[in-house]
Amino acid sequence: MKSRDEVKKCNQEMMTRDGDEENMAESIKGLKRTHRCTEVSVADTGSVVTVMGWVQKCRNKGGIIFVDLRDRSGILQVILEETDCGRENFAKGERLRSEFVIAVTGTVVKRSGAVNENLKTGDIEIRAAELRILSEAETPPFPIEAGSRTKEELRLKYRFLDLRRPDLQGNIMLRSKITADIRSFLVEEGFLEIETPILNKSTPEGARDYLVPSRVHPGSFYALPQSPQLFKQLLMCAGYDRYFQIAKCFRDEDLRADRQPEFTQVDMELSFVDVDDVIAVNERLLQAVVKSSVGRDVPLPIPRMTWTEAMDRFGTDKPDTRFGMELRDVSDTVQGCGFAVFTGALTNGGTVRGINAKGQAEMPRKKIDALTEFAKGYGAKGLAYLAVMPDGTYKSSFAKFMTEEEFAALIKLMEGEKGDLLFFAADKTALVLSVLGALRLELAGQMGLIDHERLDFLWITEFPLLEYSEEENRYVAVHHPFTMPMEEDLPLLESGDLGKIRAKAYDIVLNGTELGGGSVRIFQSEVQEKMFAILGMKKEEAKDRFGFLLDAFQYGVPPHAGLAYGLDRLVMLLVKAESIREVIAFPKVKDASCLMTSAPDVVDPKQLEELGIKLDEHN
Ligand code: AMO
Ligand code: AMP
Repeated sequence: MKSRDEVKKCNQEMMTRDGDEENMAESIKGLKRTHRCTEVSVADTGSVVTVMGWVQKCRNKGGIIFVDLRDRSGILQVILEETDCGRENFAKGERLRSEFVIAVTGTVVKRSGAVNENLKTGDIEIRAAELRILSEAETPPFPIEAGSRTKEELRLKYRFLDLRRPDLQGNIMLRSKITADIRSFLVEEGFLEIETPILNKSTPEGARDYLVPSRVHPGSFYALPQSPQLFKQLLMCAGYDRYFQIAKCFRDEDLRADRQPEFTQVDMELSFVDVDDVIAVNERLLQAVVKSSVGRDVPLPIPRMTWTEAMDRFGTDKPDTRFGMELRDVSDTVQGCGFAVFTGALTNGGTVRGINAKGQAEMPRKKIDALTEFAKGYGAKGLAYLAVMPDGTYKSSFAKFMTEEEFAALIKLMEGEKGDLLFFAADKTALVLSVLGALRLELAGQMGLIDHERLDFLWITEFPLLEYSEEENRYVAVHHPFTMPMEEDLPLLESGDLGKIRAKAYDIVLNGTELGGGSVRIFQSEVQEKMFAILGMKKEEAKDRFGFLLDAFQYGVPPHAGLAYGLDRLVMLLVKAESIREVIAFPKVKDASCLMTSAPDVVDPKQLEELGIKLDEHN
């Protein structure tokens, strides 16, 4: 730390150096930052410190100037008075505006005015002896402060300014910590961090690939990785045993609040393990990281639920278990009733299920209609309701089709009480589940049932291996084609109902969001070939697309399994952000463009020519 005399000398030098070129940005020559803003504390009272950062706010009260100085650590108050800093420095102080970048050397003193409880440094201030303006700034298009109400488009256009806001800086810094903690946990557990290529062969399965044209091989394209799946399996074949990577992944799919075209996975693979081993190490990982990043305890073991149970109780494979309102199957009870909507669905092999919105019997008709429209948005043909009024009477859209006894049985099954509002959907099972699963979340939001302080982790296990795609007229892999069927269900591969085969696949869900997923992999080439055949892939096609993996399986392959988290989603949930854009430094918007750089953009015709690419005239 400098003595007062040294500071003065420095000051003097600077004045002679800068002379009359008042508006020129000054250099930091001879100055060394001693502290970040909030690293200065009352314990430093009397010492001389040098701090550097941005002017958050500047108030000129005549003979005294108050500056709120900001850096990534927070805010520190600086006071400029001519008696401390001399005429030249004070004159510079008078020029200060928000977002100027400055360096201040001065003495730490106890705050002269009232202590500011809202600031970490609220009990001290710096009396400046020297001020340097390192860079001037235009007035920003929106205020640089937490809790911005600025439109997101404007924030993203000026992301370099938006990123200065303390809440966004908090998110990005926590993300850095979480990444570092994950890394050190995994290294400690014997995982090796290994990079896999970004320019790959296209192996579409799942989302659409992003393609990169090859100049050297005109007409050929690389694909950006949707995940490092095949490479991590090859690393297991190569004996690396435990791999991880903080991997950029690219998927050309429709974007939502929790989806970006490029995102980051915490990707891992382990050899000589089964489901429980992967779950165990990941439970410890989650517990350690949640504790170190947000100071919260994750009790272990994390609960597990089979896919079938999750669908039955919550209508989704990523249930939010922070509240109840579970689905009930009322098919048996309404089987013989006179309401054709219900009986019709059952005759067609469908189901009738309901949820109980507790205490909502007096919901206005308009709101019920709005919920019906909401359900229709998920493909429902309608939404039947039954309100058990506080006086014990009923209001129902199917009142005239049911007897008193049938009503009573239905209400009993739904655990309905006076004041409750019951909703029912009748249709094909998958549709009913998705409609009621979504309605359950919508109602919980409206009714304020969600405790936002909770962190409800949940494993979903025993996913179906395959699902029938009407669109493609064939079975497709629910997770990916390398997922191992459960041993008990292996015989069904040969003979049985393919839709009934359960997979050794698991997802980790947090508060109703899929945080990660993985599986035990097929490691026997016969099973893998069988799987490709079921997926409608001819031998030659499988060889062409995945030949290197099948070849590797011929040379000694350990049983292996893995998992990948969406890092963006993990951070989003831990900081309670509404969207993953709040935890990504430079995110893209819904149409996959970047509002700041305006990527994607047209390219020079010469570049296209080099690549042998001709655009059709519509472009
Ligand atoms: P999966 O496709 O389930 O599995 O992806 C793993 C996790 O990545 C996150 N994620 C996304 N995050 C942001 N934007 C997206 N567009 C996006 N897509 C996925 C999710 C998801 O749970 N290779 C397998 C893993 C394995 O089997 O080991 C895989 O990629 O949080
Ligand atoms: P409708 O006979 O079409 O006038 O429908 C009578 C009531 O049943 C209305 O409240 C509809 O919203 C509701 N309804 C219609 N189709 C369904 C369905 N598939 N599941 C649940 N309710 C339905």
